[in-house]
Formats: sequence, C-alpha cells, structure tokens
Amino acid sequence: MNMVEMILKKKEGGALSPEEIRAFARGAADGSIPDYQLSALLMAICWRGMTAEETACLTMEMMNSGDVVDLSAIGGVCVDKHSTGGVGDTTTLVLVPLAAACGAKVAKLSGRGLGHTGGTLDKLESIPGCSVEKTEEEFVRQVKEIGCAVIGQSGDLCPADKALYALRDVTGTVGSIPLIASSIVSKKLASGAGAIVLDVKTGSGALMQTVEESIELAKTMADIGALAGRPILALVTGMGQPLGTHVGNALEVKEAIDILSGRAGGDLLAVSLELGSRMLIASGIAADVEDGKARMMEALHSGAGLRKLAEMIAAQGGDPRVCEDTAYLPHAAYKISVPALADGYVASMDTTAIGYCAQDLGAGRKEKTDVIDPAVGLVMDVRLGDYVKAGQSLATLYLNKPELANPAVLRMQSAIVLSDEKPAPQPLVYAAVSHEEILRFD
Ligand code: URA
Ligand code: CA
Repeated sequence: MNMVEMILKKKEGGALSPEEIRAFARGAADGSIPDYQLSALLMAICWRGMTAEETACLTMEMMNSGDVVDLSAIGGVCVDKHSTGGVGDTTTLVLVPLAAACGAKVAKLSGRGLGHTGGTLDKLESIPGCSVEKTEEEFVRQVKEIGCAVIGQSGDLCPADKALYALRDVTGTVGSIPLIASSIVSKKLASGAGAIVLDVKTGSGALMQTVEESIELAKTMADIGALAGRPILALVTGMGQPLGTHVGNALEVKEAIDILSGRAGGDLLAVSLELGSRMLIASGIAADVEDGKARMMEALHSGAGLRKLAEMIAAQGGDPRVCEDTAYLPHAAYKISVPALADGYVASMDTTAIGYCAQDLGAGRKEKTDVIDPAVGLVMDVRLGDYVKAGQSLATLYLNKPELANPAVLRMQSAIVLSDEKPAPQPLVYAAVSHEEILRFD
C-alpha cells in the first residue's frame, strides 16, 4: 500500500479500494502512518467525499480496529441511542429509564462533553457517588438485572476512530458526512447493540446546520446499518435552541428528574418520547410510534421511570435520594440573571455560543485535563418565539466564580437575538430516516 498514491487518487476524486481503506484504518489505529499523510487523506476525503461502498467499508474497518463488545449474554434485542451532540440535550437520562421501565434492554456507552456540547458521563458523575466505570461483565450483569446501564468505554473500542478523530479536530476536517457517519456508526456497532436509534441534530447548535445535510448524514448512517445487518433509524431534530431549559451537568440531571417526576415537560420530554418510542419499536415492544409514546407516558405517570433511574443510579454507586429530592445534587453559590436589552420577540439563538457560555462557567472542558464543576451552568428563561420586555430575564446563570458573571452575561445577550417580528415556529422533528425511506415532517 502506497499512502501517497492513495492521497493522489482521492485528490483526483477516485474511489479507494477495500484493501486501501483497510490499510488506512489499520495504519491510523497502530500509528504506522504518519499524521501528515493521514491528515492529507482526510482533507482529500472532505473535498471529494466517499461512495456509499467506501463509507461502509471504512466504518467496518474502524469497528474491527479494536475490541467489539459482546452483549449476547443479555438476550433479546439490546437497543442503543446516540445523539450527534447538542446543548441542554439530556434525552438519555429521560428516555433510558422510561424505555427500561417499559421492558427494553438498554446497554449504553456514552461520551463526555465535546466542544460546546454536553456529555452524559459528565452529567451522571455530578450525582454524588455515581460511577460510569464498569467491566464488560458488570455492564452486562447490570443490564440483565435492571434493564439499563449507562457507562463509558472501558476496552479499546475503535482505536482507528480515536486517532482520526483527534486529527480531524485539529486539521479542520470534522465536517465531512462520510467521516462523521463512519466515526459514529463504527463506535455504535463496536459497542454491541442490536438496534440503534440516532438523534441527528440540526440547527445553530449542531454539527450539521442545514436540514438537507442533516438528512444526508442520517441516510448515510442508516444505509451503513442496513449493510451491517444492524437496523439504524435516525430522527433529525432541531437544535436551534437548547433542547431542555437547563444547560450544565447537575442542572441537566435535575431537569431529567423533574421531568420523570411530572414537574416539567416541554421539548426535552417531547424529543425523548419520539426517540424512546422508536427504541421500543426496535425492541419489539411497541407496535408503532403512538403505542410507544403511550407506554412511555404510562411509565412516567406511574413513577416507574423515576424508580428505574433511582435503581440505575444506585447500581452505579450513586445516591438514589437525588430522585426524591434534587437538593442532594451539587448547587452553585451564585445565581445571576441575564436581562434583555430591549423589547422584542426571541427570534433566533446562537446555540453553540450558549453551549460555550456554560463551558466558560466551568460546565465543560476547554482542555482535556480541565476539571468540570458539576454545579455550574445556566437555565434558559425564554424559548424561541417568546415576547420579552427590556430588563426581563433571558436566562439565569449558576456559577461559583463571581468574576465569570459579566463576560457570560454579555455573551448570552449577544447569543439571544431579539426582533420586532415574531419568528415562524420551527418543527421539533424534521425527518425520520431509515434505510428504506425518508419521512419529512417540516
Ligand atoms: N461524533 C463522533 O463521534 N464523530 C464525529 O465525527 C462527529 C461527532
Ligand atoms: Ca449529548
């Protein structure tokens, strides 16, 4: 295999052979191909794209570059859900306990916050005592016993993706549909689930900002799932504003508990029901979307979902009393409101900037070694389309370092755009995409 020939071939728009793709994935995983050649090929892929065959082949090679989790001991169909990353996006903590309370087996490997987006592992670790580390055996046992587990990767999953992702992050080559699709799907296939529901975010807080590109990413991933014999259904959902009202680790856990207790709802619950109902269908439990949503709502109203979350927290070493009383979660010392500078409708939001604002307060990492403050973040006091008066609160900041307040207030004021015109309402779910069809709802 000649790496220079491969780079030239892709530069001219050619398709790489399966042997070439295998050599590329292996060389990335074992470090035998220098970063400059990997980077050059990644950039050529960004410009020239990949055929469906190349993308599927790259996915399978990345999956097989490391450990593959075996969930067969659990029995039945294990179902997983994955989001491409959002702000105030706590669907996992709402839908995993609800789906498990309905009888689904949810074995979920989650990630940490990345860039402006939050990560489920960081949120779970904000619960006193809660651990996200388990051996594969303990993970399988927990799912068998209580129906769900949400932990971090333990083995060496997809080392090719680890190497390529780190390079993409620093070479301007993240934004490529074949590279994103192969990165996400290889990890999901390696983590063992039989069926996968993906939440592809679209809008100002998402990796893909247009609906068309988001649908193309969703279709690419669903097609790879079909080739791999592991059905993938993807919903394209809005990220034109934080999904829930709370952004920050313990704050998002609190919102999930408030929802499971029936004290809160809104778009976060609505999207959780959309995704969760598809997980119940994939598990053979629900007949259709309406049936799935009705089952999840029943688990919410009966308290079964909240009890399941408490069980999962306890099984992972955490204090389940947080589910009874969210005062057991860490709190920030200061609370500061972000006032509107004028009257007007909330016309748009720079959701990425809002995510970075929470990160600035200490809710996320700027460098790999940064330590997260679990208590800090922000709570949105407005949604798109609301009318506000000057001085009214747009958001409330929760922080432990008072010197961070002023810059954060200014950043939030410029991220939330006010206008005299009422914006058109945006759909919550734009499309449902499977290998067989693309259903559009916008
Ligand atoms: N998430 C991933 O895991 N990979 C990407 O390439 C983008 C988002
Ligand atoms: Ca997330």
